Amino acid sequence: MATTKDPAETSVDALTEDQAQTELAHLATTLARHDAAYHTHDDPEVSDAEYDALKNRNRAIEARFPHLKRADSPSDRVGAAPLETFAKVTHAVPMLSLDNAFDETDVTEFVGRIRRFLKLDALLPLAFTAEPKIDGLSLSLRYEQRRLAIAATRGDGTVGENVTRNALTIADIPRTLPDGAPDIVEIRGEVYMAHADFAALNQRMEETGGKVFANPRNAAAGSLRQLDSAVTASRPLRFFAYAWGEMPDMPADTQSGMIEVFSAWGFQTNPHFRQCADVADMIRVYRAIEEDRATLGYDIDGVVYKVDRLDYQARLGFVSRSPRWAIAHKFPAEKATTILRDIEIQVGRTGALTPVAKLEPVTVGGVVVSNATLHNEDYIKGIGQDGLPIRDGKDLRVGDHVTIQRAGDVIPQIIDVDLSKRDPAAQPYEYPTLCPACGSHAVREINPNTGKEDAVRRCTGGLICPAQAVERLKHFVSRNAFDIEGLGAKQVDAFYRDGLVMNAADIFTLQTRDAGSLKKLKDREGWGSQSADNLFTAIDARREIGLDRFIFGLGIRHVGETTARLLARTYGTFEDFETAVTAAGDPESDAWADLNAIDGIGATVARALVAFFDERHNTDVVHALLKEVRPVPVETARTDTVVAGKTIVFTGSLEQLTRDEAKAQAERLGAKVSGSVSKKTDLVVAGPGAGSKLKKAEELGIEVIDEAGWIAMVDS
Ligand code: IVH
Repeated sequence: MATTKDPAETSVDALTEDQAQTELAHLATTLARHDAAYHTHDDPEVSDAEYDALKNRNRAIEARFPHLKRADSPSDRVGAAPLETFAKVTHAVPMLSLDNAFDETDVTEFVGRIRRFLKLDALLPLAFTAEPKIDGLSLSLRYEQRRLAIAATRGDGTVGENVTRNALTIADIPRTLPDGAPDIVEIRGEVYMAHADFAALNQRMEETGGKVFANPRNAAAGSLRQLDSAVTASRPLRFFAYAWGEMPDMPADTQSGMIEVFSAWGFQTNPHFRQCADVADMIRVYRAIEEDRATLGYDIDGVVYKVDRLDYQARLGFVSRSPRWAIAHKFPAEKATTILRDIEIQVGRTGALTPVAKLEPVTVGGVVVSNATLHNEDYIKGIGQDGLPIRDGKDLRVGDHVTIQRAGDVIPQIIDVDLSKRDPAAQPYEYPTLCPACGSHAVREINPNTGKEDAVRRCTGGLICPAQAVERLKHFVSRNAFDIEGLGAKQVDAFYRDGLVMNAADIFTLQTRDAGSLKKLKDREGWGSQSADNLFTAIDARREIGLDRFIFGLGIRHVGETTARLLARTYGTFEDFETAVTAAGDPESDAWADLNAIDGIGATVARALVAFFDERHNTDVVHALLKEVRPVPVETARTDTVVAGKTIVFTGSLEQLTRDEAKAQAERLGAKVSGSVSKKTDLVVAGPGAGSKLKKAEELGIEVIDEAGWIAMVDS
């Protein structure tokens, strides 16, 4: 490691102004180089201590000569140049969510379930921990050889975004761990913003014409997910550590022990963390935390209970996406009263008209609410989904005084109307029968299965409706469909508005048309040649795409991802799919019967498919799209292999394969890949460095093989 002579020998107090200026210039370049070496190239030239010394010296000189502070001062900048996008990170251990408890009964049942599962005698002690559920966003911090290597957001729980540079700007997140810490450590916790910091940030934003955030959680998420880490650095984010991911060498055997270790390693842990002996204790802690809620200085939305003993946690394992050994006891929904100012109708991808309540802004549980969901026309009238009255059958009229409720992440609901305050002249709301976007008739179809009128009114304009067209495009480019990087809802709106992209096929001719156009993409506001090139590259990358994604991207009503995959697997090619569905147009035909005979396809989906291919404007776009894009068959899950139907865990490092390759191989062979070892695991593939998972597999008597064994198995 090179040493550096940058911190000049002279003490800051003795520097002349000229010397200070020269040194600040020098420090700016040196620190920028170190930042790039560390963050971009992952190859630091100096130790952390040396880096910190340079940074401190820079700060000290600036403090003495504030007028000499440079525009590119290293004190204001963290990391290297802004990123174009975040890289994806596959979590070594998935990031799970928590099941909810809403009252004491739920908590008692939770404890009862655990005791039964563990077959614990009622007299045997079973300790829990209780701690606030922080309302922020979770972050996973991976330390390798005691240095922060990757910080990743939760994402979908399996794949998150690499926000390492940004995490490095958060003072609560240590860059390094102390000497005694193991080689591989993944700390998980919550990034959040304190109330006071949130208020100050919003004030600053308002003054500078920036975006004002709705609540501290949005502010925290928006600040962490900044492509320019200098922006994150200027935001007051904090972090509480409360869980872990991959941790081959466990430093403790209880949840509370782990929290103590985290604290010793330099993490902030929540001061309200408690151990509890029984349900009564847990509820006591819950009440105490609820009482303190208003004065904590940050948002929490409940209390999390966890089984304290880690061997019990391991035995309990997971149910779908949540651990069996933990639960979030949520605080009751919060309510407020306000005025219904207007009812706005939005038009979705399939033409559904959705009413949204525009409210006089009101704070509910520290969050400013100005919209509430109204679901559909009956809901406004006071009729619920099952035809029974809601809000005691009271309808909603513009100008009404209403009670709204917000529960956690749920969109606020209007739960009551104060009729005593209603203007006697107020009229019942007249639901539009014409589409507000295109003027076509909006109708409530008769559901052929039930013979009843659909709750949703739909625009009949199809593709002539701009609102539907643009929503379809947004769906087409969305993550689980074509997932075109750099082409999101905002860009789709702008391209559609300017006539650049009117349908899905247009996306793929954008570059050719751009080449011959006078107003080039790179000259548009918010674009440059780099981002335009990146977009064209991202579009090209999707000229070949799985048939399942292709079908899903078409946005056919009732065809979600699972159905699209099923259709792709059943038909193999788009041509066969189209031929079969087109032939099914005649309800007397064998083709119709065949379509309905597919396991997982009911009459509703079959009808929607036929209706889609029956529309000329749909098939025109599909055929134009097929000139640009080649859907490729999806591999069918095998049932005839040794690992078909088995649950496999890969642990430790693999040398010949990447994790992703191994996972893809396993899935191709019909196996399920899991991140953690439990009784349900059938096979563990362990490479060098495997730790706790291997140990657990051995304890549970699960078959363990090495990478060579796996390759032999796959090849056989
Ligand atoms: S434990 C295996 N503890 O709640 C689950 N989560 O609904 C590990 N959260 O995604 C989570 N405070 O973002 C845990 N004290 C706490 C928490 C907490 C907030 C969040 C976390 C998680 C979500 C689950």
